[in-house]
Amino acid sequence: MDQRLQGKVALITGGASGIGLACAKRFAREGAAVIGFDLQSAEHWQAAEEITEHQLFINGDVMDLEAQEAAVAQAVDRFGQLDIIVTAAGIGDAGPVHMLDQTAWQRVIDINLTGTFLSIKAALKPMMEQRSGSIITIASIEGQLASEGGSSYNASKAAVVNLTRNVAMDYAQLGIRANAICPGFIETPMFNSVMEHMPDLKESVRKQHKMMRFGQPEEMAGIAYFLASSDASFVTGQAIAGDGGYTCGPSHGIVEMMGLT
Ligand SMILES: NC(=O)c1ccc[n+]([C@@H]2O[C@H](COP(=O)([O-])OP(=O)(O)OC[C@H]3O[C@@H](n4cnc5c(N)ncnc54)[C@H](O)[C@@H]3O)[C@@H](O)[C@H]2O)c1
Repeated sequence: MDQRLQGKVALITGGASGIGLACAKRFAREGAAVIGFDLQSAEHWQAAEEITEHQLFINGDVMDLEAQEAAVAQAVDRFGQLDIIVTAAGIGDAGPVHMLDQTAWQRVIDINLTGTFLSIKAALKPMMEQRSGSIITIASIEGQLASEGGSSYNASKAAVVNLTRNVAMDYAQLGIRANAICPGFIETPMFNSVMEHMPDLKESVRKQHKMMRFGQPEEMAGIAYFLASSDASFVTGQAIAGDGGYTCGPSHGIVEMMGLT
């Protein structure tokens, strides 16, 4: 492997699990120093062979700006700079509006949207001083398309997409890029906790992906790696779906009729 992130420093919120953990492993394999920030313990992080040296794990809540600023300061103290932030901390929830109480709505907006805002705010401080940086938010295809019963989650993710575009615009001339990844349904602990009791729903969702399968966290980490690398030096303000074709358009069985399976 080329280790194309050698010398780079990446902070990953939600780094203890799923997509965030896969990003940490991939970035570490590519030579970056990685800093995990998560509510959960570092159990999986520490078990990962890839993440051995040049790493730091900090327990904290993305709703706590001071904790995020302290994590950024620790990263800069230890490794000298901050080049990349991936905002993967997030929660799922569901419910159509008439059934959703305000507290449940607010919790999803707080963690998924306000948490992302605070992560970006903390990371911008060193990035603006350096006049460089890559901000990678983890939104969702459900921030691009609606889905039944997904009101609060989908609204939070749509807002993350547009916040990311706005950050891209506001800081482009300071050398800071910002892009959103919009995953389809990815097999992570979050996905499993939602789907394990609903096999019919799981099967129906699987078939919405034109590739007829779910995604893997490592496939999202591959997109994050591209966005973090110099290959993406002219890419900013984009929402990139990694969704096995989920958002291509509706299926009507014509592919099957034509034997293209
Ligand atoms: N798995 C999917 O199908 C899918 C699809 C689209 C988008 N996403 C998004 O990807 C991101 C990662 O999800 P995942 O599937 O890897 O889930 P996951 O549950 O495996 O990982 C999410 C991590 O975020 C952490 N976290 C949650 N709230 C936090 C907080 N307040 N402060 C700090 N850390 C917090 C959790 O402890 C966990 O380690 C989320 O934003 C999710 O919405 C996931």
